[in-house]
Amino acid sequence: MNKLGKKLFISISIAIFLIFTISLLLTNYFLPKYNLYKTKEQINKVTAQIKQQSKEEFINDISRIEQQYNISIVYVPINSTADDINWSLRERLSKKQITLSKFWIVKEDLKHVKEGGKVNTLYDQEKLKASFFASFIAKDDMLVLVGVSIAHSNEIIQMINQFNLYIFGFSIVLVIVLVWVLSKNITRPLKELSDVAKDISNLNFKKANIKTNDEIEDLAVSINVMSNKLNKAHQDLTQKNENLKVFMANITHELKTPISLAKAYSLGIKDGLDDGTYVDTIIKQTDNISHLIEELLRFSKIERDAISKETFNVVSLFYSILQKYEIEMQSKNIKIDIEANQSEMFITADKNKMEMIFNNLITNAIKYTTNYKIIVEFKELEEQVLFNIRNGVDQLHIKDIEKIWEPFFVLESSRSKEISGTGLGLAIVKGILERHGFQYGVRTFEKEIQFYMYMEKSL
Ligand SMILES: Nc1ncnc2c1ncn2[C@@H]1O[C@H](COP(=O)(O)OP(=O)(O)OP(=O)(O)O)[C@@H](O)[C@H]1O
Ligand SMILES: [Mg+2]
Repeated sequence: MNKLGKKLFISISIAIFLIFTISLLLTNYFLPKYNLYKTKEQINKVTAQIKQQSKEEFINDISRIEQQYNISIVYVPINSTADDINWSLRERLSKKQITLSKFWIVKEDLKHVKEGGKVNTLYDQEKLKASFFASFIAKDDMLVLVGVSIAHSNEIIQMINQFNLYIFGFSIVLVIVLVWVLSKNITRPLKELSDVAKDISNLNFKKANIKTNDEIEDLAVSINVMSNKLNKAHQDLTQKNENLKVFMANITHELKTPISLAKAYSLGIKDGLDDGTYVDTIIKQTDNISHLIEELLRFSKIERDAISKETFNVVSLFYSILQKYEIEMQSKNIKIDIEANQSEMFITADKNKMEMIFNNLITNAIKYTTNYKIIVEFKELEEQVLFNIRNGVDQLHIKDIEKIWEPFFVLESSRSKEISGTGLGLAIVKGILERHGFQYGVRTFEKEIQFYMYMEKSL
């Protein structure tokens, strides 16, 4: 038997044992006393009733009372001698089929009754295995005896005891069988749960399949939910860890290039090779380094910054940002086409961070467009505002366009143009959009690239 089974067995057995002990005590000690008490109560009731009746009423009523209460009532004149009274009472009782081996009312009791009192006496009949309980009262000139035979309960009690013992034995056997079945039914699913929990602790996110229709099933459901969530969290963490590794490798790479260039040009100056441009190159490289560090700091700050949402008109925000780039676009001869079915579209978001997003997307479009055209679209949907920005690109030779969101990712085509920045812009955009819970993405067409996002419309 398993641990739970043992516990169940012991506790149920103790409960049964206690119940039997109490029942034994009750039958052996309290049952006879209770029986006598009840008899006395009944006789008292009868004597009280008799006392209230007139003599005639009483005499007429005797046989009815006897039948009703299953008792015997006899009466004799009260003013005879004690001996006479005793003999007459015996004779009357024997006429009613009550033969007593022991019966005698003593003088003191007689005197007490004559004075209006009541005397109760229990006569043990020994060999007859019964007692006779008699209550004496005086009624006018009569002494009335109200009596009943009480069988000795010892034998019955012994029999009940024996019977109880059998029941006790049988109950214990029944308990063993019941506990065995019960503990099997309870422990099997518990064992399964404990196995699943062990697996989860070893990062093996399994699920329990338990159909017991009780609290254990509820527990299994909770554990399954927990397993799912832990699994997802674990996967996220692993992914983040992986990203961090790539990120660190990229930072190192990005920093190494300008540092080694600065070093090479410094050595050149030292060796007297400077053609007058070396210092400028070194300054440019250190500028690159500090720019990169600034961008990194900005990037990590955005990751930590809390999002503070407000409601604002996203179309007018976009126009105000676009103003900054008008001169640059004019000089580069870039045309922008903005489609918005309304001039006011209100969204709920962090305004400063949305500004960063638009800055990034606009500068990218200006920097990388190959057809000198940018198409922007705002569309009000039922619960969201959709934003699209599209520009021309050279044939894209990229398998996984989603990589564009990773920090330091720069397309080969733009790298050669020497216009691309650090490659953190879209990583920042992604971070902000994810923290807002906005859907976003990138699509490529044959000679175009489109970035889109669905912002939460303020209703
Ligand atoms: N609108 C676009 N058209 C074509 N290529 C783009 C566009 N936007 C981004 N890219 C490509 O994706 C790369 C990553 O863009 P991202 O904005 O993250 O970095 P970046 O512009 O190079 O540098 P940063 O924004 O940090 O100054 C770019 O270098 C470019 O190759
Ligand atoms: Mg950019």
